[in-house]
Amino acid sequence: MDKLIIKGPTTLSGRVRVHGSKNSALPLLFGSLLFDTPVQYENVPRLWDVETTLRLLGSMGVRTEWDKEAERVTIYPTVNDPTAPYEWVSKMRAGILALGPLLARYGKAKVSLPGGCAIGARPVNYHLMAMERFGATVSVEGGYILASVKDRLRGAEIRFPEVSVTGTENVLYVAACAHGTTRISNAAREPEILATGEFLQACGARIEGLGTSEIVVEGTSLLAPVAPVRIRPDRIECGTWITAAAITKSPLVLENCRAVEMTSVLSAFRDMGVGLEVSEDGATIAVHPEERLYPLKIQTAPYPGFPTDMQAQLLALMCLAQGTSQITENIFENRFMHVAELRRLGAKIRVRHNTATVLGPCRLVAAPLMATDLRASASLVLAALAAEGETTIRRIYHLDRGYARLDRTLRELGADVRRETE
Ligand code: UD1
Repeated sequence: MDKLIIKGPTTLSGRVRVHGSKNSALPLLFGSLLFDTPVQYENVPRLWDVETTLRLLGSMGVRTEWDKEAERVTIYPTVNDPTAPYEWVSKMRAGILALGPLLARYGKAKVSLPGGCAIGARPVNYHLMAMERFGATVSVEGGYILASVKDRLRGAEIRFPEVSVTGTENVLYVAACAHGTTRISNAAREPEILATGEFLQACGARIEGLGTSEIVVEGTSLLAPVAPVRIRPDRIECGTWITAAAITKSPLVLENCRAVEMTSVLSAFRDMGVGLEVSEDGATIAVHPEERLYPLKIQTAPYPGFPTDMQAQLLALMCLAQGTSQITENIFENRFMHVAELRRLGAKIRVRHNTATVLGPCRLVAAPLMATDLRASASLVLAALAAEGETTIRRIYHLDRGYARLDRTLRELGADVRRETE
């Protein structure tokens, strides 16, 4: 197992190219299961979650090619067994995204329950409810979701009790192939939903209302993949790099961004006093951190609100603000695992219910740390860049699931970061 050793405090300088988005790549890769002709992808990030997805597809008999240097993936989606096994879904919850496409294409699917997760219970009941609404028979046996349909899936009225990103994606896949009209209420509005919907539209699907919470889909049996699918830039990786610049008080230039999808994140940084210069096309963001960081009170919320996937990183930055900051986590019930680790660096953070209060400014001093989940790992790396001394972060496989070449890029920017295998 690898660990990172980071010597701080450090400054960074240079340019960073933001990779393709993990949370957009995964649903789009699973979307290939709808077809029987090859689907090509560009700007695919080099991540463990992509590797896991391709292995999961491989376990169903699907052939995949991944040119990592060119960031290109080709999937030849012929499935000999529509089963997403525990071995892979247990490693990555996004494996639940096999459910909708398999059911839509083969009329049956067997998908392992993702199981618990460090950031909360994360049930999949909305996914199951939706598949039943389409006319599928759904049961859970031996840790597996079994879904099947006798004839064709029928369009349905689907109302999500709360916004679910992968739930909406699974529903879009089924609705695009079902017979008749599907109305999705309280649909997720995340840019990743837009990406999934636009991919389906390019394949011939009729979808209205993408980007709003009411989506209407007219099903068709005539979908076919056409041009290569380009994965959009990762807004969370971009936000993580802005935090890296701000926490080390270093100017950085970020390229391959989509600022238009980051309004709430950019305004949170600006409110903390971080100077941001966004190019006219939104693709380049120059970060000019100020000496003084202001405290901030913020809540996570579904898009266009402040993303839960940026909460841990912002919390690390709040440790350096001149005053008391607060983050309320509204999406996941147990997403403050990083707090105990940040405290080991000297952070003064109190957690009450779903609100973390940071008594800044805190003096951060190196300590041995343990990464708990993906974004928590990023927050520990960020804090370690600002902490005095040598911080060791263990269990960084979480980081490799969602950040392409993070430690390598940090080194190129001038940080003293080593990776060692234990
Ligand atoms: C996706 C993202 C993840 C992000 C999250 C919230 C991917 C691969 N992952 O996860 O990075 O943190 O959105 O933006 O895109 N819920 C239920 N029952 C369900 C489904 C969800 O109760 O069947 C609850 C969840 O426990 C959570 C909330 O709904 O409290 C939102 O979860 P959801 O949007 O579904 O998260 P994911 O799609 O798993």
